[in-house]
Amino acid sequence: MNRLLLLNGPNINLLGKREKEVYGEFTLQDIETEVAELAENHRYDLDCFQSNHEGELIDRLHQANGKYSGIIFNPAAYTHTSIALRDAIMAIETPVIEVHISNVHKRETFRHQSMLASACYGQIVGFGMKSYRLAVLAFMEK
Ligand code: DQA
Repeated sequence: MNRLLLLNGPNINLLGKREKEVYGEFTLQDIETEVAELAENHRYDLDCFQSNHEGELIDRLHQANGKYSGIIFNPAAYTHTSIALRDAIMAIETPVIEVHISNVHKRETFRHQSMLASACYGQIVGFGMKSYRLAVLAFMEK
């Protein structure tokens, strides 16, 4: 099954306008285009979904079960709060890589903890747009 899902959580739709000194100038569209191109180079298809709503992200994880070889997920602020998203990741078979644009460990202490990371296949943090690319490569070499 050569198909990946790219999931992005709250406020990622505002990239390019939001806290540019932290997240850079690129947009969600830029990420989706670049990840799709990289996946395509490896003969993988990519589906993309972004939501500002926890329940919608949970529903998308449930629907994804068994339909993808992997899920690349930037849960944004829900990383630090959401036991419900953690449970959803635990409930599905499909491996999830947690991705962050910024290095959360260099930032406020409330960002140092992830509710999700220990339920994930792996975590990639702090490489800007490249965090997403590294996640694709991690699935390619799995
Ligand atoms: C983020 C880091 C989170 O702490 C923050 O709430 C985000 C973005 C990142 O990609 O660096 O919205 O997930």
